[in-house]
Amino acid sequence: MTYRMFEGKDHASIYHKYRFTPPDELKNIVLQYLDKKKGRPHVLAVDLGCGTGQNSRLLAPHFREVVGIDVSECQLEEAKAVPGNPNIMYREGTAEELPFADGSVDLVTAASAAHWFDQSRFLAEASRVLKPRGCMALLGYSDNSTRFRYQNCGERLGRIYEEVKQELRPHTSSPVALSEGKLEELYAAIPFPDKERIESIRVKSLIPVKNVVGFIESWSMFQAYRKTDPQIAYDLLLNTQRRFLEEMGVTSPDTEIEWELEYFCVLASKPQ
Ligand SMILES: C[S@@+](CC[C@H](N)C(=O)[O-])C[C@H]1O[C@@H](n2cnc3c(N)ncnc32)[C@H](O)[C@@H]1O
Repeated sequence: MTYRMFEGKDHASIYHKYRFTPPDELKNIVLQYLDKKKGRPHVLAVDLGCGTGQNSRLLAPHFREVVGIDVSECQLEEAKAVPGNPNIMYREGTAEELPFADGSVDLVTAASAAHWFDQSRFLAEASRVLKPRGCMALLGYSDNSTRFRYQNCGERLGRIYEEVKQELRPHTSSPVALSEGKLEELYAAIPFPDKERIESIRVKSLIPVKNVVGFIESWSMFQAYRKTDPQIAYDLLLNTQRRFLEEMGVTSPDTEIEWELEYFCVLASKPQ
């Protein structure tokens, strides 16, 4: 089954605007792992479920060629519209059927995407296309221990954010739960003996309140909620922004808060 939760043009542009690029800490872990296991040259990286291309662009300076693959044409259109990366090629396709020869890929990645794939078919394809000692790097974030800081109201902001998640919980699809479990099942199913899972990489950043709200809007469960009742969904976003600003005692949604997010990473290297 292919999940098609990221198809609409509106969703793709919200995605492009508000989803985070994986942090440098995570990129460095992946590149160091690839160096250790396979070594150079870094020729071809394939970024599956590339969406609007955040992770593909991050990898581009480190590979001769990056191919971003996604089932959603709208997501790919947003990705292609970003100038300045001549060594990235975007292709419509699925993680379960890859257009590469056996043993031809140095790195297969997926950022916040592997939980949507058909586990066994994706793993069979990734194993087929990777070079000997080539690597798989499946990245994501867990929203279970997200923290906010702004003067003395960080905990209260955290509670508002939790309430939004609770309201959207009935609209959560099962793959998202797999991601919240830091891909434990997928990790166990990887057929390579050489594998590891780094469960907690905590990264702090400053983001405007309006981007916290935009990030919520980009969630698949918010988009599912919006389909059931667009007005109630829209009100949820407006209220969340209003409540954040009230707690903070400010009026501008451009006001920045510190946001601490927990990333994880599943790494594996194909045997020789
Ligand atoms: C949560 S988004 C992540 C996008 C991007 N990698 C990022 O870090 O923001 C998941 C993406 O996976 C894509 N996707 C879902 N199932 C897929 C599949 N079986 N094969 C390829 N792409 C898929 C969706 O269209 C969507 O763009």
